[in-house]
Amino acid sequence: MACSLVFEGWPAFTAGVLGTSSLTRGWPPNLAHGWQVCQFVQRRAGGLVLAEHGFHGAQEGSYMAKILLVEDDPSVLRTLERMLKSAGHDVLGVGDIPGALQLLEKEQVDVVITDIVLPGASGLELLRHLQDNHPHLPAIVITGEPTLDSAVEAVRARAFEYLAKPISKHQLLRTVGQAVHIKYLEDERRRLEAANRAYQENLEKLVAERTQALQKSEASLRQSEQQLHALAARLIHIREAERAQMAREIHDELGQLLTGLKMDLHWLMRQCQDPSKKSTPEAIARRLQDALAITDDTIKCVQRLAAELRPSVLDKLGLCAALRHELRQFADRSSLEIEINLPDEEPPLPPEMAMAFFRITQEALTNVARHAQATKVTVTLRPAPQGWELLITDNGRGIREEDILHSNALGLLGMKERLLPWGGSVTFSAVPSGGTCVRAFLPRQSDNNRGNDHEKHSHSG
Ligand SMILES: Nc1ncnc2c1ncn2[C@@H]1O[C@H](COP(=O)(O)OP(=O)(O)OP(=O)(O)O)[C@@H](O)[C@H]1O
Ligand SMILES: [Mg+2]
Repeated sequence: MACSLVFEGWPAFTAGVLGTSSLTRGWPPNLAHGWQVCQFVQRRAGGLVLAEHGFHGAQEGSYMAKILLVEDDPSVLRTLERMLKSAGHDVLGVGDIPGALQLLEKEQVDVVITDIVLPGASGLELLRHLQDNHPHLPAIVITGEPTLDSAVEAVRARAFEYLAKPISKHQLLRTVGQAVHIKYLEDERRRLEAANRAYQENLEKLVAERTQALQKSEASLRQSEQQLHALAARLIHIREAERAQMAREIHDELGQLLTGLKMDLHWLMRQCQDPSKKSTPEAIARRLQDALAITDDTIKCVQRLAAELRPSVLDKLGLCAALRHELRQFADRSSLEIEINLPDEEPPLPPEMAMAFFRITQEALTNVARHAQATKVTVTLRPAPQGWELLITDNGRGIREEDILHSNALGLLGMKERLLPWGGSVTFSAVPSGGTCVRAFLPRQSDNNRGNDHEKHSHSG
């Protein structure tokens, strides 16, 4: 333990490892009786005990403290008690160490003042007890028989001060003031350290939470990107499949019809060019009739192909009529009971938004037919607060949570994507009574949005 000892009337002299030998080496020969006060001001820093001459920061008498005073001489006890109380301190006086230990268990004290020579045991033992059990409690040692050995022991037991009797009131109050002040500063330091630790722990927790949230949102971003890629790939695939089907239908149906028409026209031309062919007017009329019938079929075929590409009923008659038409066809194809609830007036939706609602209905109906095992489906289009909502509800087995959350299939995702450009949304839920409800919502658009969106999406569908 390193310290410097400062004696009244002597300059500060040593900072070194405190031991009897190092002390006696610098010890003036007349000191054994000449010293009055050893002043130990301890500040523990990395195992060092530093000392200063006097305590510059101490505000003497400015702290009211609860003091445990251990003194076996009743008259000295009374005198010291009087001095301390006159400065406003609260004093618990006791004559021996067992009494002191009892009080320490019950009371919260700020400073201990103890005599060295006490009945049964030395005050230094009390000091050692404090060192082990109350390491932050400053203890002042007072003695009528100051010796170098007891001073060294007091330093080892981390005494705050070592005072030789008789002690003046000024000396006592100043020492107690310093001890309390230092205890206050130490307590404050510990409190701030604890607050700092708690703050750091909280900060670490916060950082961990934020990191976790960031990782989570990164993961969901990655998932959305993957879904987006999958959706783009599916769109390309669908477009190619549609083109292939269209090409097949044009080739197989339209091609055959036109070939038949061409053959009829050839036959008629041969009748006109070759006079040897003596066809009757009835035969010619029959051929013309056939050609007309093929032309009618061709026109129907062209209309059907065009309608498949874009439902003309939607453009001509509006969303409500298109939904009615689609449901009628769905009812013909499936054996499901259909209920349809449409508003009296056509909703004022721009064509591209109406098309999005129409396509969602088609996709949802396809899902009902493929997955629901339902007997009935209800389609409702109605105004909602701040917009329009479309509900496709079936009474089937009900969509599962994992289908909604982790579906790798792109039908549900595609439905959601359709309304995103207008700030709309599509939700899927299992109906408590059984079945699935698809709810599509489109917010009412401002005039500006409507114009822009129409331009933006006028080629989609
Ligand atoms: N009306 C419904 N009732 C019960 N389950 C449904 C219903 N609609 C969807 N599902 C479930 O949700 C899953 C995901 O649907 P989604 O439309 O995304 O994919 P899909 O129909 O299987 O394939 P596709 O990509 O061709 O549409 C389906 O596989 C099905 O299990
Ligand atoms: Mg589907």
